[in-house]
Formats: sequence, C-alpha cells, structure tokens
Amino acid sequence: MADLKAAVLISGRGSNLQALIEACANPDYPAEIVLVISNKPKAMGLKRARKAGIDVRIIDHRDFDSREDYDESITQALEAAGTELVCLAGFMRVLGESFVERWRDRVINIHPSLLPAFKGLNTHERAIDAGIRITGCTVHFVRPAMDDGPIIVQAAVPVLPEDDAKILADRILVAEHKCYPMAVRLIAEGRARVVNEKVSFDGAEPAEGLLINPRDDTAR
Ligand code: GAR
Repeated sequence: MADLKAAVLISGRGSNLQALIEACANPDYPAEIVLVISNKPKAMGLKRARKAGIDVRIIDHRDFDSREDYDESITQALEAAGTELVCLAGFMRVLGESFVERWRDRVINIHPSLLPAFKGLNTHERAIDAGIRITGCTVHFVRPAMDDGPIIVQAAVPVLPEDDAKILADRILVAEHKCYPMAVRLIAEGRARVVNEKVSFDGAEPAEGLLINPRDDTAR
C-alpha cells in the first residue's frame, strides 16, 4: 500500500515534527511527510524539515486580512501537495470551523495534557498548580473547539515534587515523541477510525499495568 501523505503544521521548535521525520525514515513506516507549513518564518522546525529534504511553506497569518483567507491559503498548499492527513505539531494558530470541516477526520493534533483536562495554554504550570500527580499527552482528531475531538493515543506521565513547568514539559515531550508517530501509524494503517465521535481501533491492543504516583511500595 502507498504511504499516507502527511503534512505537518508547526509554529516553533518542531521536536514533534522531528519525531515524525525519524519515524518516516523507517522503510516500514506507512506514512511520508510531503509538506511542512509554518506560520512563523523563523520557526526552528523549518530547519529540521529542510535538513530532511521536505518541502516547506511559510504561510504567515500576518499577511492575511481574515482567518478565512488564511485557512484557504493553507488548504490550497495542502491540496497542491496531495495531503491526506494534516498533523498539527505545536501549531499555535486556531484553525476555523470551515477548515476543520473541510478536513474532517483528517486533521490531528498533539496536546501536552491528558485531555479533556487542561485545554489551552500554560498546561504545565496549571497542572503543577492544581497539584495533580499524573498528567501526560494526547493525540486527537481536531474539532472546531480548541483541544477538542476524538482521542487516538494518550500517555500518562507522573508529576514529581520538584518539577517546574520546564522539567515537566521535557518529561511529557519524551512521551509526545512516542505517541505522535504511533497515532499517525494507526491512522495510516487504517486501524484507527472515528465512530460516533470516539476512536475505534482495529488490532491495537489496550495497554496493561498501572501508573500510581506516588509509588505505593512505601505504603504499609
Ligand atoms: C508540544 O509540547 C505540543 O504538545 C504543544 O506545543 C509543543 C510543541 O513542541 N502543543 C500545544 O500546546 C497545542 N495546544 P514542538 O514544536 O517541539 O513539537
């Protein structure tokens, strides 16, 4: 079967893009990245894409009068590249409802929390402030509301007493870099589909085991 043609939308560092680039370098991986779009001309992820020989487009929202025009320009670039799946990877622009409907069930996003908890920005600070013991990351299909939509993959990550937002973000990022390539693989292989607004799997085994934080081996 031909590889699924994925486009990755970024705004910054692009470490999730890098994880996808590395996954796609494996000949057995069922997807390829045909285009990287950034809304920020200086995004570090653009360097990663160019180094990997991937076509890049800078589509700067400041060059457009309306959200509709901006989204339309992105759709045109995606279509010209033959995109079948759009991966938002640290893309810090909200895409409009008509874009999301146009690409329904073909746009996915990664977010650094266990959704539906901690939607939006400053996720890590808010998780620490809330005193939760376990957080994580989520890959989900995109719906018009921010950080909303059927969940594909989640990973649980402990919050430790000495964490600040940066330390916690770095720990979650390790999980993100596993979850995003996994989610793209499941979609590319036709094993993850949206049914009644939940993701249904074909041949993906549920995880076993517990993550309990703090460890309960000190409990008597
Ligand atoms: C990642 O932690 C991603 O989950 C987050 O931005 C970071 C991008 O890092 N996305 C969001 O918060 C979206 N709501 P990266 O550019 O190194 O992939």
